[in-house]
Amino acid sequence: MIIQKQNGKAVPVQNSFKEKFKMVAKTMMGLEEVLADELRAIGAQNIECINRAVLFEGDMRLLYRANYTCRTALAILKPFAEFEANNDQELYDQVYRIKWEKILDVDCTFMIDSTTSGEIFTHSYFAALKTKDAIVDRFRRNFGQRPSIDTENADYKFNLHIRDNQVTLLINSSGDSLHKRGYRQAVGLAPINEVLAAGMIKLTGWKCDTNFYDPMCGSGTLLIEAAMMAMNIPAQYYRGDRFAFKRWKEFNLGEWKSVKQEEDRKIGSTDFDYEIWGNDIDLNVLSQAEKNLQFTKLHKDVMLFNGSFEDQDPPEGRTLIVTNPPYGERIKIEDLNAMYQQLGDTFKRRYGKDCEVWLITSDFEAMKHIGLKPSKKIPLLNGQLDCRFLQFELFEGSLKENRASQGSKGASPVEEERDTGASPVKEERGTGVSPVKKRSTGASPAEEDKGAQPVKEGDTGASPVNDNDND
Ligand SMILES: C[S@@+](CC[C@H](N)C(=O)[O-])C[C@H]1O[C@@H](n2cnc3c(N)ncnc32)[C@H](O)[C@@H]1O
Repeated sequence: MIIQKQNGKAVPVQNSFKEKFKMVAKTMMGLEEVLADELRAIGAQNIECINRAVLFEGDMRLLYRANYTCRTALAILKPFAEFEANNDQELYDQVYRIKWEKILDVDCTFMIDSTTSGEIFTHSYFAALKTKDAIVDRFRRNFGQRPSIDTENADYKFNLHIRDNQVTLLINSSGDSLHKRGYRQAVGLAPINEVLAAGMIKLTGWKCDTNFYDPMCGSGTLLIEAAMMAMNIPAQYYRGDRFAFKRWKEFNLGEWKSVKQEEDRKIGSTDFDYEIWGNDIDLNVLSQAEKNLQFTKLHKDVMLFNGSFEDQDPPEGRTLIVTNPPYGERIKIEDLNAMYQQLGDTFKRRYGKDCEVWLITSDFEAMKHIGLKPSKKIPLLNGQLDCRFLQFELFEGSLKENRASQGSKGASPVEEERDTGASPVKEERGTGVSPVKKRSTGASPAEEDKGAQPVKEGDTGASPVNDNDND
């Protein structure tokens, strides 16, 4: 059901399954464009990037597909009512008018997440409370019963968005945040958010046409996201059935199954024939990566090494290196500056012209100690931390030689700031770092049992509406 504004009033409009409607895909700051590309690739129309979200249009099959495949979406929301409200009473009345019984049953649970801006509704919490009151009052008066609030695991999650006097109500079709892929059996000390990890890989422009290496892989999030891309495994393949849209009254099991089958059929359809390697100094953390990889059945496709990054070569041949080193926030390192200096030295000494290196950090002081000028600096947020995602392009030989060979002054994006003498020449391989396991060219999850069991994860996502009136 979609409800549109007519003469300032909310009016329901029935839409058939193939009918197109507006949607909003939520994402993280800096990932809007990559999410727009993902949506474009699955047939979304009228795409528009806004702050931390992408607006688009499509039918219900597209809503299912966006939930199942978009790696950089946190949630897919469907707007269902738009109206004007100039005060609390108008908000209440407009919400009360909506035929909520067509959306919800009395015995289900719901919650409201709200954001407000402008001078009329200055407290998003109170606006959400008014909205909740209107919904439960309508149920009580018409049916003598009302649905309950559940701030943890509600059947229906609504978003109330108010800008000045413009009110939009949206229903969250995803439920739990889509970063909860379902493959985490174990977490390291500071695991990176799965959506951020996928977004970082996409920002590098990787076409799954080189090796992939994370020298500080922790619990393996970047490795798993890279492997899933390389094997064409849908983003939510391991999530199981945990999508809010499956509880909707209009849910169509046949259409959902057909979308899922179409996407699952593509698994393993790429000719990915490169290495995916991870390395970490902490064996305990590495065993968590191993557990996660085993769960995803990608353990035969990813090779793990235990040792310090400076002792480990990347795989031979063209390699994309993406890493999330400690920032000193959650993992304490005695001398972070020295560690970043060591990182820069390793880039120059051990990684060569075949490597493109990207790292994310929030430590802008330590970053300077890398001693290489990044060719790109992309602002991203890791949780609340203001981060930069930095690209370093490496060349064989000194910067001067490289410029000379390119025949143009200043064409090279690399400038060695700290150690101008060092040339990034690759060294001999194999320095006694112990591989945790050997790669076998064996089966990808496409060939193995597809029935990996999803895990239940707690909901930490949205800010709930407290319900004093709750049972
Ligand atoms: C921020 S965590 C990476 C988290 C990872 N992206 C994940 O999703 O779990 C940084 C990792 O760097 C590792 N580390 C610290 N010093 C290292 C070193 N010298 N060589 C290799 N790994 C190191 C830590 O053990 C930790 O797992």
